[in-house]
Amino acid sequence: MGVGHYVPENIVTNDDLTKFIDTSDEWIKERTGIEQRRWFNPDKDTVANMATRAAKMALDRADMDVKEIEFIVFATITPDYFFPGSGVLMQRELGLQGIGAIDIRNACSGFIYALSVADNFIKAGMYKTILVVGAEIQSSALDKTTAGRNTNVIFADGAGAMIIQASEDADHKVLSTHLHADGDHAEELYVKDPGSSRKVRLSNELIAGDSFKAHMNGNFVFKQGVIRFEEVINEALSANDQSAEDIDLLVPHQANLRISQFVQRRLNLKDEQIFNNIMYLGNTTAASIPIACSEAWEQGKIKDGNLVCLASFGSGFTWASALIRW
Ligand SMILES: CC(C)(COP(=O)(O)OP(=O)(O)OC[C@H]1O[C@@H](n2cnc3c(N)ncnc32)[C@H](O)[C@@H]1OP(=O)(O)O)[C@@H](O)C(=O)NCCC(=O)NCCS
Repeated sequence: MGVGHYVPENIVTNDDLTKFIDTSDEWIKERTGIEQRRWFNPDKDTVANMATRAAKMALDRADMDVKEIEFIVFATITPDYFFPGSGVLMQRELGLQGIGAIDIRNACSGFIYALSVADNFIKAGMYKTILVVGAEIQSSALDKTTAGRNTNVIFADGAGAMIIQASEDADHKVLSTHLHADGDHAEELYVKDPGSSRKVRLSNELIAGDSFKAHMNGNFVFKQGVIRFEEVINEALSANDQSAEDIDLLVPHQANLRISQFVQRRLNLKDEQIFNNIMYLGNTTAASIPIACSEAWEQGKIKDGNLVCLASFGSGFTWASALIRW
């Protein structure tokens, strides 16, 4: 019905990062494709209020009243509080007290997992209209020193929202979602603390260590990512008797421009069949797909009736795809 997004005003360029990290604009562009990203303003932005702004844009574009929303599925791995999740905070901000809200914690695949939950609640007849959100503030948790340079140059903040609604119209629908995970690789991309399976969740010793910081085996993530992206996109296509040529727009999770370009080559997609915005927004984890859909829609790159493929890979590892007749 509608898609919207919000990104913080604060632009951080690669040159800005060189002021506190031993890195260069050239290195970051060459390895990740990123030129700049948005980092939140702690006096203004929260995960929930960025998501609320994205949801309001989606509602405006759908010409819908907020009261039509019956349920919220909120994907984030960076909630405002340790608990409860940010879904209930956004519900409060939207004035929708009483409706259900769940948080999904599947990192970069979080939005597609969330969309799948919403789609299947709708197909089961449980709700008619669901708000699906991906929102993250990654920048406050990054190690902003040279030791953290394989993650702090990549991750960024933002929010995206999509409203889906039950309809008899077979021309516009989520055709399928495919969800996967392999917990064998949980520690290849993770933040360990504040974890609960310790004697105490917080201690000075823990805080002094580096277990609160994101750890990523970048090379391994890259190699697994390109395999899983291709696999899960092909799974979506073959389940719906479609081929890569039929895709009007592939919106991959914005992990790394090099990963998107690799997948594009493997699937033989033309430039106009894929959407990337990581160059100016960085990797916003669960928010990247709905932000990209929102931008693609406003640029006229997603039109009614288009076959849109969403695909993701990330921490867990988790990977997923959705095929949508828009
Ligand atoms: C993170 C990533 C860009 C690193 O690129 P890479 O080519 O694998 O680089 P490596 O980690 O092998 O490091 C190569 C060198 O660059 C250095 N380096 C790492 N980050 C750097 C940075 N930001 N600036 C400058 N140098 C950096 C390393 O220290 C290493 O130096 P050394 O050879 O002297 O030891 C790349 O692995 C990647 O993009 N992986 C996928 C990440 C991803 O998509 N994550 C999100 C998943 S949702």
